[in-house]
Amino acid sequence: MISVNDNFLKLPGSYLFTEIAHRVAAYKEGNPQAQVIKMGIGDVTLPLPAACIMEMQKAICEMAHKESFHGYGPEQGYEFLRQAISDDYKQNGVSLAVDEIFVSDGSKSDCGNIGDIFSNSCKVALTDPVYPVYVDTNAMAGRAGDLLPNGQWSNLVYMPVTAANDFVPELPKEPVDLIYLCFPNNPTGTTLTKSQLKVFVDYAHKTGALILFDAAYEAFITEKDVPHSIFEIPEARDCAIEFRSFSKNAGFTGTRCGFTVIPHDVKAKGAKGEVVELNKLWLRRQCTKFNGTPYIIQRGAVAVYTPEGKAQVRQLVDYYLGNAKVIRESLLKAGFAVYGGVNGPYIWAKTPDNQTSWEFFDYLLKEKNIVTTPGVGFGPSGEGYIRFSSLGSRENTIEAMRRF
Ligand code: MLT
Repeated sequence: MISVNDNFLKLPGSYLFTEIAHRVAAYKEGNPQAQVIKMGIGDVTLPLPAACIMEMQKAICEMAHKESFHGYGPEQGYEFLRQAISDDYKQNGVSLAVDEIFVSDGSKSDCGNIGDIFSNSCKVALTDPVYPVYVDTNAMAGRAGDLLPNGQWSNLVYMPVTAANDFVPELPKEPVDLIYLCFPNNPTGTTLTKSQLKVFVDYAHKTGALILFDAAYEAFITEKDVPHSIFEIPEARDCAIEFRSFSKNAGFTGTRCGFTVIPHDVKAKGAKGEVVELNKLWLRRQCTKFNGTPYIIQRGAVAVYTPEGKAQVRQLVDYYLGNAKVIRESLLKAGFAVYGGVNGPYIWAKTPDNQTSWEFFDYLLKEKNIVTTPGVGFGPSGEGYIRFSSLGSRENTIEAMRRF
């Protein structure tokens, strides 16, 4: 019998959202009449922007003729989309070469796959609570050590983000190589100002660490002084990689498209001390393991950058932010301590009466027929919190809040 990658055996039984889906399915089976409202996984519910649909329809027609048919595309994405992305960054004062942008089938894949290009000896720091993909993929690679009874991994460095520190992580307390940051934050919905983010950039500079910056929720930023990209801080060009997504702004959760930015200035060293560009390694990785995002999807994504596309995306995001406002205000009125929901689609609330996250999750599912995400599923510091997603319909959001 062959041997498996033992690191997989150290993982909890199932991925957080799979576990929740199982519990909800079991409840629904026993209670088929229950009107269950989903505010758990951050999946969008409104249709794709019309501008994207039109471009995709045109692209489908192109696929029907041999003169305009597209087979394998460039693994790193078509030039038309990478150029549009680069032009968009320019409007925020960030200059990126087209070959510093890698289009993919979504930022979840990229956040997970990026670990391929780093040594297994890299020490990883991440916020707690945190998007579980960063933890689980490092555990699969063997960088996380062992899962301890307190829910932490023995080899990861945790930077708590809680009400006690206003959801602003402190710098790692020991030397680290990779720092995962997600702002606007999943799961807390909170964010960092430019000067707060610069503290991390300065730290990375000083110590030689690399920041893996997940900006999947940047479209939800409403407040000034909150950076949409880590590269708005010029010093980040040689110490950060950024992940972006079309999922939450343009509704591509099922259509799949995202991209990763790796400036040429980001370098690391090999075992013999040779200095290498991470951009080159990622290109090598993608060309070997990925055959590119479908042409039809990339044509849809490029429409996001047209004037019509931008206006339609704005409408989608404003709709969800409207839901977030409903959730925030209703929970506040009901006496909850509530965070987030102003620059991001998630609302993070303290559970009442010292209930654990799973206790309150079960109560909401069974008594109110509302699916949420238990805070502890994002890490030990999430214990005692619950996450609401605002990405559902307005009607369901209002109905769920009425049940409070
Ligand atoms: C979430 O609910 O945390 C997100 O939907 C996860 C994701 O985008 O993969």
